[in-house]
This record gives sequence, structure tokens and C-alpha cells, in this order.
Amino acid sequence: MTRDSDRVVLIAFGGPSSSGKTTVAQTLKVLLPDVTLIHLDDFYLTDSQIPVDEATGYQNWDCAEAIDFEKFKTYIRNIKSGKKQVPVDSIQSNDLKLRLSPAEKKQILERINQNSDKFARKELVFIDGFMLFHNPEIIKLFDIELFFHASFDTLKKRRESRGGYNTVEGFWVDPPDYFANIVWPAFVNSHKYLFIDENVANRLKPEIAKQYNIYDINNDNDSTLFDLVQQSLQFIIDNL
Ligand SMILES: Nc1ncnc2c1ncn2[C@@H]1O[C@H](COP(=O)(O)OP(=O)(O)OP(=O)(O)O)[C@@H](O)[C@H]1O
Ligand SMILES: [Mg+2]
Repeated sequence: MTRDSDRVVLIAFGGPSSSGKTTVAQTLKVLLPDVTLIHLDDFYLTDSQIPVDEATGYQNWDCAEAIDFEKFKTYIRNIKSGKKQVPVDSIQSNDLKLRLSPAEKKQILERINQNSDKFARKELVFIDGFMLFHNPEIIKLFDIELFFHASFDTLKKRRESRGGYNTVEGFWVDPPDYFANIVWPAFVNSHKYLFIDENVANRLKPEIAKQYNIYDINNDNDSTLFDLVQQSLQFIIDNL
């Protein structure tokens, strides 16, 4: 008999804000037979516990200290060991602006069907979050890692075209220049160790990508949702 820890496969969709994690994770969840989707955003501390950035006086929602990682680690380890978890009451909204055409959807579904035996033996759990790869202790919780990223300009434009975010107690709207002053520096400082020459405009260091089994997905605006879903699905299939 397969142990629960072999049956449950934890798949991380990581990367900076607006890199496409939630879009791709939600799209694949709809197409795959039975996926549980967990959002790191559901492990934020309460609004008054969010650290305040000294230089700007803004709350910093984009650093690791804004998340209750002890609660998150316990939750993830329990899922991996097959313990049923109380579902978190998700604060995520389901805003799927990018969609697949019927022909693209058909092609993805065919790929899934060709691998139905593999999927039937596994229970897939997707974890979607902006701080999953900043710390090897967290990276190691997962079995398969997808790392989405894009350029400063692309991410800034996407982030600034969003209305805001649900929080534990309310709704957050970015103040002026929030992306450049808070979101981007928090991402760069905590993730540059993964990139060639510590420069987040580059690809991931091949030795780190190999060590942690991270698939490097550059999602600038020339990528289509179809590309992203197809690549992510193939990496998952190859690693199941
Ligand atoms: N390749 C792309 N081309 C055009 N728009 C894109 C692309 N990828 C993502 N987007 C858009 O960017 C926005 C952010 O995407 P998404 O919500 O998936 O990001 P995220 O990584 O989950 O960000 P956050 O961490 O802030 O939740 C969405 O409106 C999405 O439609
Ligand atoms: Mg998201």
C-alpha cells in the first residue's frame, strides 16, 4: 500500500506579486480531476500585526514577516502526512482575466487524459504564494516547484492595474509607488540568492534549480496562458 506521504504531492506555485501564480494554479485546478488549492495569502497575520516600513510608513504586506509561517508549516506538513486539514477560509478572489480558447482547453485536457494513470495514483495539492522560495526550509516542504517571475516593468504595470487585495480583516489598496518602494525590494532582497549573479532579471542559478527541483517560468507579457499552463503541466507530469 502507498503511504499517504507518497500519495500526496505538494506543488508550489511561487514568485513575486502579479507573476501569474494564481491565474495558472486556478486554471490547472479547473482542468485536473481533483486538486486542492491553498493560498499563502490565507496565512497572513492580522492587519495590525503587519510590519511597517520605516522609510515610507507603509505597511509591508510583501515581506516574509507578514506571514504566520509557523502556522503555514504545520498546516503543510499535516497535509503531506495525509491528515485531513480544516480548510482555511480563503480571502482570495477568483479573478481569471486570462482564459484558454476551447481548442487550447481541449489540447490540455488530452494531455491530462494521456496521463490519467499517473494522476489517479496521486492527490495533488497546489500551494500558491509570493513567499515560498525565499527560504530553503520552506522550499523543502514541497515536492514540485514552479517559480513564476517577470520584469520590474511588467509586474509593476500588472500590480498597479489591480483594484486591491482582501486581507484578514478588510481590503488593502496600494498607496502611491507601493510597488517600487515595497513590493519589488521585498521580492529582490529575499529571492536574489536564487538568480544568476544575484540579479533577478536573469534566469535561476542552474545548480539551485536542480537542487530544489525548481522550474523557472518567465512570464512576461509575450507568454500566453496556454504556454504557461502547458509548461507547468508538463513539468508536473514529468515529476509525478
Ligand atoms: N502573460 C500574461 N499576459 C498578460 N497578463 C497577465 C499574464 N500573466 C498574468 N497576467 C495578469 O496579471 C495579473 C496578475 O496575475 P495573478 O493574479 O495570477 O498574479 P499572482 O502571481 O497571483 O499575484 P499576487 O501574488 O499578487 O496574488 C492578472 O490580472 C493576470 O490576468
Ligand atoms: Mg495571487
